[in-house]
Amino acid sequence: MNSTILVVDDEPSARETILAILEGQGYILEAATNGPEAIQMANKITPDLILLDVMMPGMDGFKVCHHMREDARLREVPILLLTALDDRDSRLRGLRAGADDFVAKPFDPQELRTRVGTITRLNRYRTLLEQREHIKEMAERVIEAQEEERLRISREIHDDIGQALTAHQIQLQFIRDNIPDDRSDLKKSLQDLVVETSQTFAKLRLLAQDLRPPLLDTFGVAPALKAYCSDFSRRTGLFTNFDSDETIPEVSDTISVTLYRVLQESLSNITRHADASQAWVSLNADEDEICLTVQDNGQGFHPENVTHKGLGLQGMKERVTLSGGTFNLRSTSGEGTILTIRFPNKRSSLATKAEAE
Ligand SMILES: Nc1ncnc2c1ncn2[C@@H]1O[C@H](COP(=O)(O)OP(=O)(O)OP(=O)(O)O)[C@@H](O)[C@H]1O
Ligand SMILES: [Mg+2]
Repeated sequence: MNSTILVVDDEPSARETILAILEGQGYILEAATNGPEAIQMANKITPDLILLDVMMPGMDGFKVCHHMREDARLREVPILLLTALDDRDSRLRGLRAGADDFVAKPFDPQELRTRVGTITRLNRYRTLLEQREHIKEMAERVIEAQEEERLRISREIHDDIGQALTAHQIQLQFIRDNIPDDRSDLKKSLQDLVVETSQTFAKLRLLAQDLRPPLLDTFGVAPALKAYCSDFSRRTGLFTNFDSDETIPEVSDTISVTLYRVLQESLSNITRHADASQAWVSLNADEDEICLTVQDNGQGFHPENVTHKGLGLQGMKERVTLSGGTFNLRSTSGEGTILTIRFPNKRSSLATKAEAE
């Protein structure tokens, strides 16, 4: 993307000279003829650099500079003061007003181009970092909101729909038991309804658990992962072995939910793509880190050859990185796949800090 430069000078010839020097360098060039106009334009276009004349009637360059530094939108925009004043006091005044640098008039075209080039490049880099940070924060918020929403739906299913279904089932059983014996056809229909209601209830419970596993909140991450593995084995028939240290430290909600979601997605990938007969899950912790591995003995794949961009692998990776962990996937053709994710063990870093104090 091209950088935008705002040139501010009351003298038409000076403005034209600067614009001519910077012309054809790939910049979007805008010009203003006085201080108030400069502030207004800068607010509108948020330039990547402002070249600002000092000596202007009315509002001089120092005042414009000062004003821009007070404005949250313009605070970070680099300002290069154009000055005939080469004395120390004016330079100090300019720096105090918030200018980043000076160029002395008359300009050396080559020098002006070089300095403008350097500043705009640095500013682009800074903006890019800011945007990246912003995207990261947004992604974190999206994940948080998604988990909150899952929790809400899961409670709603469990507490509201679940209770209603239970009440229906009891009523149906009551009616079934009070139907006269000569109406065996009705009795049979009601019995079918009782069974269907109970099956629907079981499905809803599973759905609620998948959305927000209650074990995670009540017993912590290791028991929740263990229960998920045995439940998964039972449901899919894939032998899934779970192994864990006794001493898994308490982890933040974000990390425990991330560990759980990674397990869900990787086991689902194994049943869908791996053609494996076994899976091994281990959750371990040492002084430095907490580590989850999910391994299968399936056909393996080449991650770099995956053309279909599923949400699974990419989503897991982003989620782990956002929660402060690392993600590693190794897969060998014919030998299976092993996924390892690691999070720093906060408890040990806290202990070290406490010892040091
Ligand atoms: N354990 C595995 N064994 C073999 N292939 C795998 C394994 N895990 C992932 N893959 C391959 O990687 C691809 C991408 O996986 P990913 O989870 O990103 O997407 P998906 O499972 O196809 O779809 P989605 O998860 O979005 O429903 C899969 O289509 C599959 O080819
Ligand atoms: Mg997947």
